[in-house]
Amino acid sequence: MSQGFMTNVAVHKGLDNIFIKHTALSNIEGDKGRLYYLGYPIEELAEYSTYEEVCFLLLNRRLPTKSELQDFARKLRKERNVPENVLKIIKELPRDAPMVSVLRASLDILSLYDGDAERNDVQAWMNVAVRIISKIATLVAAVYRLKKGLEPVDPNPSLSHSANFLYMSTGRLPTPLESKVMDVGFILHAEHELPASSTAALVVASTLSDLYSAISAGVSALKGPLHGGANERALEMLLEIGSPEKAEDYVDQQLSAGKKIMGFGHRVYKTFDPRAVIFKRYLELLSDAKKDYRFLHLANKLEEAVVRALGSKSVFPNIDLYSGPVFHLLGLEKEIFTPMFAAARSVGWIAHVLEYWEDNRLIRPRAVYVGPAPRRYVSLNERL
Ligand code: ACO
Repeated sequence: MSQGFMTNVAVHKGLDNIFIKHTALSNIEGDKGRLYYLGYPIEELAEYSTYEEVCFLLLNRRLPTKSELQDFARKLRKERNVPENVLKIIKELPRDAPMVSVLRASLDILSLYDGDAERNDVQAWMNVAVRIISKIATLVAAVYRLKKGLEPVDPNPSLSHSANFLYMSTGRLPTPLESKVMDVGFILHAEHELPASSTAALVVASTLSDLYSAISAGVSALKGPLHGGANERALEMLLEIGSPEKAEDYVDQQLSAGKKIMGFGHRVYKTFDPRAVIFKRYLELLSDAKKDYRFLHLANKLEEAVVRALGSKSVFPNIDLYSGPVFHLLGLEKEIFTPMFAAARSVGWIAHVLEYWEDNRLIRPRAVYVGPAPRRYVSLNERL
């Protein structure tokens, strides 16, 4: 029979509302549906900034001057190629393995080729940061194309980080609208305080392990369907429902079966996720440009039905309801969604690790023991 020894200790399952660090990087006002990076509203960053500028902002905790931004963008561009050996190994990895797992393996392999990976000073961390942010996009695109049986596409130095990512993934030059939408996608996914993936990265970093290991942990946590994997599932769900008229029935059926509806609900947002609101606008623009309104109409109907049914439980659309359709209209298939999320979030993970290392403390929570009271070991021969 089990016996508790610390029965009066409160267990914070899921670490709900447990604060483990101070941060200047992002602020989520969950009840108001607001998100800020370093105090700048996400809406303004999505509208006026670029992913390169947001990366600088998160790594340096201030906006760059014009020349600093040019210099930073040049450094990112210079790091886009991955070592030939890394590509050779990736080509040998199983094509039917989940893409996020292949990405994690690829990052781990890449780390072995980075001379700064094991160095322990700020300059080395910044070098590694730029390398990871830049090369992870190339890795994701390469892994995606290999999975589809296609050859990887070399980076195009005339394109921005996200336009180049789209180009390397699809093999065709994006239109200005597609480039902007991809960039907004990268900006919206760049940072989000401490979800499971950033926390996983911090747990690893707090042991004073290296940046690559921390990012690898972030990628692993992102893989799960309750986190990064949800956007894939959300698109699958929209494809399964098929048409707007079926949205209401689908919601009823899912809820009466006690199932969750993908793309809705959030641990912190208790109203509309502001990123969902932004993505919805870009879905409208893309749908207009492509004269393809299937997803827009369906997602709208689903949103209405879920908010009607679950709004009282504070369940509203999250970023994944709209990101899947947006990426689909950009010509990307669902397998790339989570790895692409990892590519965009790499900067947030790194920024949190660097911030944490300024005042590091090993993360080591406790568990309340509820197992048997101390007892004698019974030798194998005596056991019935
Ligand atoms: N569909 C149906 N019901 C839901 C949903 C949903 N998507 N989300 C929450 N609820 C219900 C719960 O069943 C619960 O109801 P109850 O009180 O009757 O038991 C209530 O709302 C509260 O929800 P919790 O599960 O306690 O909320 P939690 O903070 O633990 O969950 C989570 C957040 C995991 C994201 C959840 O909303 C979910 O599973 N959503 C679907 C997956 C998804 O879209 N994930 C993406 C998150 S965003 C991101 O990672 C980028």
